[in-house]
Amino acid sequence: GTKLIIDTDPGVDDAFAIALAAVSADVELLGVTTVFGNVPLASTTANARRLLQLCGRPDVPVAAGAARPLVHRNPHTAAFVHGADGLSGRSSTLPEATRPLESGDAVSLLVSLLEAADEPVTIAPIGPLTNIAALLAAHPGVREKIARIVIMGGGVERGNSTAAAEFNIWSDPEAARRVLAEDDVPCALVPLDITHRCAIDRDWLAKLAASGPLGATLEGLTADYTAYYSRVLGFDGMVMHDAVAVAEAISPGILRTEPYPVNVDCGAGPARGMTVVDRRRLSRDDPEASPGRTVEVAVDTDLGTLRQFVLDRLSGGPR
Ligand code: BDR
Ligand code: CA
Repeated sequence: GTKLIIDTDPGVDDAFAIALAAVSADVELLGVTTVFGNVPLASTTANARRLLQLCGRPDVPVAAGAARPLVHRNPHTAAFVHGADGLSGRSSTLPEATRPLESGDAVSLLVSLLEAADEPVTIAPIGPLTNIAALLAAHPGVREKIARIVIMGGGVERGNSTAAAEFNIWSDPEAARRVLAEDDVPCALVPLDITHRCAIDRDWLAKLAASGPLGATLEGLTADYTAYYSRVLGFDGMVMHDAVAVAEAISPGILRTEPYPVNVDCGAGPARGMTVVDRRRLSRDDPEASPGRTVEVAVDTDLGTLRQFVLDRLSGGPR
């Protein structure tokens, strides 16, 4: 099975993404590292641990990472999207974690898991990229142990936190720029353009809720999150951003990707945190024409297959 590490800031869609990997029999979930993001680090860490317990996976180590971006600013949060505790106010209803938090930080856990792995590992960062940038800067040798980095982040034609920027990139643009500039590590970007197309409606959520206790609990975490989408998009359902990236991480090719040069705006202007994706034909023929590094950008998927893939696995219950 795919060896996987998830770096996350749960977050309702992160919860779906973690569960997707945690219950998949063909995935070897080596560890979960946490980062500030949707809510502060203490909450994202507590949420990740409880979610793994819910999924019957107290065997998976969790380590806490960065509480703020690389270039020190006050972290942004998105409690108005995910609820004050990150899980629509339901965090404390999840089972308490029996496994203690790792005593080392996220970077130490990442290094030890990568070094111990007998084959390259996929990393799925589904929050701000601070931990991953710190890992690559401090431990350049681990690059050869990374099979692929599949990032939920960015937008080709749209932002969500600002007109130009997507939340994960906007939360730490300097970190995102560094990770995306790593030419030695295969990198895929799963941007808003594709995750929004993979939105799930009430019907899908009702099927999940009816599938069993795990599905019902996950559906129960969505109240604040679906209320947000109903407010901003007029859509009754939710966008499961992070689960789309994790689906690609565990089933490579479920998304169709195309290679494009991608750069991140780290300026102080209105485009701060924007992923600048160069889709000009000329940059395909002449790499010098674009300053960004070429990464695989997810552009399309079979929506029916993707939605069913996630539903089937989450409906199988805890492992
Ligand atoms: C991303 O931002 C967060 O709110 C979600 O969890 C997802 O990772 C979407 O822009
Ligand atoms: Ca997230």
